[in-house]
Amino acid sequence: MLIRRIAADLERAPGLVAERGSVLGVPMHLLASTTSTNDEAKQAAKDGAPSGSTWVAEQQTAGRGRQGRVWVSPRGENLLFSVLVRVTCPPSRLPPIALVAGLAVRDAVALAAPEAAPRIKWPNDVLIDGKKVAGVLVEAITAGSRVQAVVVGVGINVHTRDFPEDIAGRATSIALASRAPPDRAAVLADVLACLDRDLHVVAARGLGLLRARLEAADALRGNRVRNDTGDEGTASGIDDDGRLLVRRDDGVLTRWSAGEVHLV
Ligand code: BTN
Repeated sequence: MLIRRIAADLERAPGLVAERGSVLGVPMHLLASTTSTNDEAKQAAKDGAPSGSTWVAEQQTAGRGRQGRVWVSPRGENLLFSVLVRVTCPPSRLPPIALVAGLAVRDAVALAAPEAAPRIKWPNDVLIDGKKVAGVLVEAITAGSRVQAVVVGVGINVHTRDFPEDIAGRATSIALASRAPPDRAAVLADVLACLDRDLHVVAARGLGLLRARLEAADALRGNRVRNDTGDEGTASGIDDDGRLLVRRDDGVLTRWSAGEVHLV
C-alpha cells in the first residue's frame, strides 16, 4: 500500500535545517513514496538540481543498499533520504567521502541516543551494541575521469522496534537504544549539518583531519575480521585513502578496499 502524506514530525525538518544554517538540506523535497530517494537525487542531478538538494521519503518501493542488497523499512517509521552534493574530485576521494558520510550519521545518532555509543563498522554502517542502526549508500555522478557530484543516501532505523525475524538479531533502532523518544526531523537536520561540516574538507584534503574522530568511532579496530574471500586478520584502523587496515596472523599489514567485512 502506498501512503499519500508526510507525517507532521518530518514537516518540521526544513525549519530545523534553516536553524542550523546548513547548506545541505536546501531545498528539501518531502515525498510520501518513491522508488528510491537515491534515484530521485540522481535524476534531479541530471536535470540541474542545486547542491544540497535533499529528498526524504516516508516509503521506498525499491530501496537499495550496498553490495546490491535491498533496503527495507516500514513506511513512516524511519529516515530514508538522499542528499545531492556537487563536489568535484578524483574518484580516489569516493571511499573517504563514503566514510565521512558514515561518520556524520554516527554523530547524529549519538546526539539522539547519547547513552548508546554508536560506532562505525567500515566502511559506513552505524552500529549500536554490534547491531546495525543505519546504512549509507554513496553513488557518484562522473564526467570523464572526474567526480562531479555525489548522492549520499542514508537509511536510519529511528522508531522501528520489531524487526523481521531474519534481521532481528542484527538490527536495532534509535528508539530501542535511547531513553528519550527520538525526533526524526532533528536526526535528519543533525546528519545534514554534520555532513555539511565535513564532506567538502574530505573531498578537498582527504581523511587526515578526521583521523582522530574516525579512530574513536571505529567498531572494528582490534577485532578479528574476515572478508568474503576468506582473508582474516585483526582490524588495525583505516588509512588516509579510506581502506581498512588488517594485520594478518603472519604479521603482514594488508589493506582492504572493498567488499563486506564480518566480525569473526
Ligand atoms: C547499506 O547499508 O547497505 C546502505 C543502505 C542505504 C539505504 C538508503 S535509504 C535512502 C537511500 N535510498 C536508497 O535506495 N538507499 C539509501
